[in-house]
Amino acid sequence: MNQFNYRNGELYCENMPVKALAEKFGTPLYIYSKNMIIDKFKAIDEAFSSVKHTICFAMKANSNMEILKLMASLGAGGDVVSGGELYLALKAGIPANKIVYASVGKTDAEIKFAIESGIMAFNVESEAELEVMNQIAISMGKKAPVAIRINPDIDVHGHPYISTGKSINKFGIDIDKAFDVFLRAKEMAGIEIVGVHSHIGSQILNMDYYDAEAKKLYEFVTRLTDAGINIQHIDIGGGLGVHYPDIIPEYAEEKNDVPQPAQLANRVIDVLAPLGLEIVFEPGRSIVGEAGALIAQVVYIKHSRDTKFIVVDAGMNDLIRPSLYEAYHQIVPTTYMDDKFEIADVVGPICETGDFLAKGRKLPAVQRGDYLAVMTAGAYGYSLASNYNSRPRPAEVWVDGENAELIREREKVEDWG
Ligand SMILES: Cc1ncc(COP(=O)(O)O)c(C=O)c1O
Repeated sequence: MNQFNYRNGELYCENMPVKALAEKFGTPLYIYSKNMIIDKFKAIDEAFSSVKHTICFAMKANSNMEILKLMASLGAGGDVVSGGELYLALKAGIPANKIVYASVGKTDAEIKFAIESGIMAFNVESEAELEVMNQIAISMGKKAPVAIRINPDIDVHGHPYISTGKSINKFGIDIDKAFDVFLRAKEMAGIEIVGVHSHIGSQILNMDYYDAEAKKLYEFVTRLTDAGINIQHIDIGGGLGVHYPDIIPEYAEEKNDVPQPAQLANRVIDVLAPLGLEIVFEPGRSIVGEAGALIAQVVYIKHSRDTKFIVVDAGMNDLIRPSLYEAYHQIVPTTYMDDKFEIADVVGPICETGDFLAKGRKLPAVQRGDYLAVMTAGAYGYSLASNYNSRPRPAEVWVDGENAELIREREKVEDWG
């Protein structure tokens, strides 16, 4: 259920008016619905309940400590991509044996830290990495648990920057070569083969791609078993798409039907369950994406020839997805009374032409001082935020019913020097 909706013209997150939160905590402000995060996680977990499984939350989507602690309390594992994320996952109470670690560039120090921590698996992305890991593990008198990431060469037809499973992408080991790498790994004294991994991309709406991925993994694992290589888990990556809400339907330019987690799980389970192995799923966006919004205040309205600009106090340093991927986020006012609309670009204060949140967008008329909510910003929002233009990163608040709690303070420029 979407926990962001209008009541008598006021936008609410759960039972709190968003405008009141913006006034209390200031803007730019990330607001999350705690119960929506819980519901999303539970729906995914439940969808896989007929098989042994671990849901490893992809922390790159959002690594706020309170959200990580919530994930730990719900029984989630973690999908980490750096020593920093591993540190945060452990600190939040996510058990090490539920943490998988991908990244094409793990450093020696990061590998050592992860071996010491006792993680579930490294998702190994190259032969070079495997060799280094073997040496490090031997020098520590240990074995590194390894799932080799195969690149299945599946095109999910999304934005090129979030496609990961094609042979031209830097991720994983080409499926045609990966078998030999497993054979090599089997001979290594410092490596324990525990699984196979693949991740085909993000914002995937068509479940046929997961079916194709599962079939390739099935064939691959069968080949491994025939060669005497026995694994414990199959990690299908993350990537389930999210809904761009149409809370003011007449202003929604991109509506999409989002498959329910069960639709994904059923397709994957149908293919993989006969192997009797644990299934690992690494969702990020589908747990936190729709549960968050970025609130900005209108600073100026500006006209330039034919273009109307709504200049707000949030920029690409706060939410870079529109600039980086031309991502669509619905933008709505926190108070919505009438149906007068305007066509405008919503831009931030940063000195870059690429600093925009929306272009040529149909929006209810707004004025200086009004608040706008940029929806579906819970994933890859704060976690991709930067200090560009020496701008402190926003505060984060989550709402649980009638209660709102600050879960990360706004940064202060005074802390920098
Ligand atoms: C290896 C891996 N797993 C999981 C994810 C999470 O993807 P999503 O947030 O689309 O579910 C990503 C995202 O890039 C990834 O690269």
